[in-house]
Amino acid sequence: MAFVDKYGPWALITGASAGIGAEFARQIAAKGVNVALVARRRERLEALGAELESQYGVRTLAIAADLCADDFLATITEALGTRHIGLLVNNAGSGMTGEFLDHDLDTELQMLTLNCRAPLILAHHFGARMRDDRRGGIIMLASIAGIVPTPMFSNYSATKAWNRYLGEGLHEELGRDGVDVVSLCPGLTQSEFFDHANVDPTNWPAPMRATIMSAQDVVKAGLKGLGKQSQVVPGLSYRMLMRMSRLAPGGVPPWIIDRVMRFALPKP
Ligand SMILES: NC(=O)c1ccc[n+]([C@@H]2O[C@H](COP(=O)([O-])OP(=O)(O)OC[C@H]3O[C@@H](n4cnc5c(N)ncnc54)[C@H](OP(=O)(O)O)[C@@H]3O)[C@@H](O)[C@H]2O)c1
Repeated sequence: MAFVDKYGPWALITGASAGIGAEFARQIAAKGVNVALVARRRERLEALGAELESQYGVRTLAIAADLCADDFLATITEALGTRHIGLLVNNAGSGMTGEFLDHDLDTELQMLTLNCRAPLILAHHFGARMRDDRRGGIIMLASIAGIVPTPMFSNYSATKAWNRYLGEGLHEELGRDGVDVVSLCPGLTQSEFFDHANVDPTNWPAPMRATIMSAQDVVKAGLKGLGKQSQVVPGLSYRMLMRMSRLAPGGVPPWIIDRVMRFALPKP
């Protein structure tokens, strides 16, 4: 079945105003699927929408919504009207490095709300219609930090493990009804993420910086794995790292990850 027949006529992409989400919008629109773009910065969504309409001849819809708001689902469903979502990309997310106890609790709870509550509500809402239609797809943005427990990024890492588990569980559950679900687990990826995460990637040693992937390659791998795999780790170096970590009893020792993460904190 062609991509557009399986996952069209509309895809809903959260966090589409930047980074990986904007790239998902580009690559999905290039496959002829209309895109509903969700984030808080409306101007960015409208500019991207105009670009995709002229480049690929698809229809687009900009939905300005804060996914931490209690009633965000109503904002999205009202804006969508009768548009039919065949593909959900649960992409919006944020993270903050540093000592867990030095962060204020409200910031940590906000991250939990954005990274877990919002994708749960969206998967539940749009997944129901997909199951009835016996077709569709859901992409959950996890991370390699959701595979390897990551000190100095502990709450973020836990939220990404949650996304990974939800995606992999639903892959089996919804797969029985013809709905494809995949957990996408990128490593370091070029985006605006580091600008908000209290990380200075220039502090990392060169071999580590060399593993930073483009959003294009990450999204390409995610879309390629949809319908085939329950989990996708983009990039050969990250796949090798994940394989090696499985060989070590108990996985990668957390103290090593702790050292690596401390390296990336901005110098005082
Ligand atoms: N970059 C990496 O190294 C990396 C690695 C592994 C996994 N990931 C995951 O990939 C996903 C995308 O991250 P990215 O790297 O593309 O980050 P990014 O460039 O910072 O983009 C984050 C997106 O989320 C949106 N967003 C943030 N808070 C929001 C809110 N309250 N309501 C609605 N939208 C909100 C932002 O838009 P507005 O500000 O306009 O709302 C933006 O579009 C995240 O789930 C992240 O955890 C990233």
